[in-house]
Amino acid sequence: MTAPFRTLDDLDVAGRTVLVRADLNVPMADGRVTDATRIERLAPTLVELADRGARVVVLSHFGRPKGKDPALSLAPLVAPLSAALGGRAVAFGIDCVGLPAAAVIDPLPPGGVALLENLRFHKGEEKNDPEFARALAELGQIYVNDAFSAAHRAHASTEGLAHLLPSAAGRLMQAECEALARALETPEKPVVAIVGGSKVSTKLDLLRNLVARVDRLVIGGAMANTLLFARGVDVGASLCEREMVDTCREIEAAAKAAGCELVLPVDAVVAAKLAPGVETTTVAIGAVPADRMILDIGPATVAAVNGALAAARTLVWNGPLGAFETKPFDAATVAVAQEAARLTAEAGLVSVAGGGDTVAALAAAGVEERLTYVSTAGGAFLEWLEGRKLPGVEALRR
Ligand code: 3PG
Ligand code: MG
Repeated sequence: MTAPFRTLDDLDVAGRTVLVRADLNVPMADGRVTDATRIERLAPTLVELADRGARVVVLSHFGRPKGKDPALSLAPLVAPLSAALGGRAVAFGIDCVGLPAAAVIDPLPPGGVALLENLRFHKGEEKNDPEFARALAELGQIYVNDAFSAAHRAHASTEGLAHLLPSAAGRLMQAECEALARALETPEKPVVAIVGGSKVSTKLDLLRNLVARVDRLVIGGAMANTLLFARGVDVGASLCEREMVDTCREIEAAAKAAGCELVLPVDAVVAAKLAPGVETTTVAIGAVPADRMILDIGPATVAAVNGALAAARTLVWNGPLGAFETKPFDAATVAVAQEAARLTAEAGLVSVAGGGDTVAALAAAGVEERLTYVSTAGGAFLEWLEGRKLPGVEALRR
């Protein structure tokens, strides 16, 4: 089967200048990178291009600057990028277009790497301004997009540029797209999805898309409270979007029509407030005291979820099952994550997870490396779960 887009395998890059759209929008504190996952996952593309004799020019956004903002410079990323490239030198261009960009690209030897300043310092980036895209295109001969996590943005560097130069997906983009296709487009069935997080209202499109595609949908986190409430369950003092009742009924009806089994909590860990080490009790759903909040799914629900996993061939996971940042309400998420990791290793479960909080929760459970694929994307992973076409991916199609 031919990939739906070109990859590095289709490019002849020796002696060429290759513009690589990366996502170096990594978490930083006090000028230091606090999670280098995105940089590490990007590195193989850059190393491969450099080893094949390309001049490698890395383009990225960082944060959401309104115009030029020194606090959101990419300069602090030079050292971590160089480290991820095994100590190769990384030149820095103080602007991503024009003379300052050319000044660092022109002297690059084949195999050399340069990082250019934050794309979003220019208004044309987010507007997908054709003129800004042309200014970027002038810097090189080939475009490689390796920023799956920014592919939900139709910006000049993620979309416009792909139409101006011969283009291909980088290795990370390729891996992300292949993993996602394996999880939802051409999955081995049965497929189970786990969706957690706090609000039904932010994941409506996602739930609608998933019920039509998966065999079982497990819902945890505070969003389960809203669905339970819509079923007439008294959820006590729990977080709950009471105005979403009709929407929840619609989702239930859509699931039924599609033959998707919804798995909702049958028991819960409750407490008087969300605080570390607070006193907790485990109660059946239907017996939540009026002054208690549901903060995690209970052990009977964990067993049901693990049973659903054991019966599945494919798992798609987004969102924690409880208030996992606060112990002990991480317990169910950790237990299910460990079972997913075990089934991946021992039973060939295809397990794909992603989206903001999810990755942090899986890392805390120590299973990040033990699932089939954990996406580097937040918003892009969610939009993909919603069944939307991602402009950055679409622009790469053959
Ligand atoms: C992300 O971190 O999710 C991506 O880099 C996209 O960033 P944005 O939400 O600011 O477009
Ligand atoms: Mg984001």
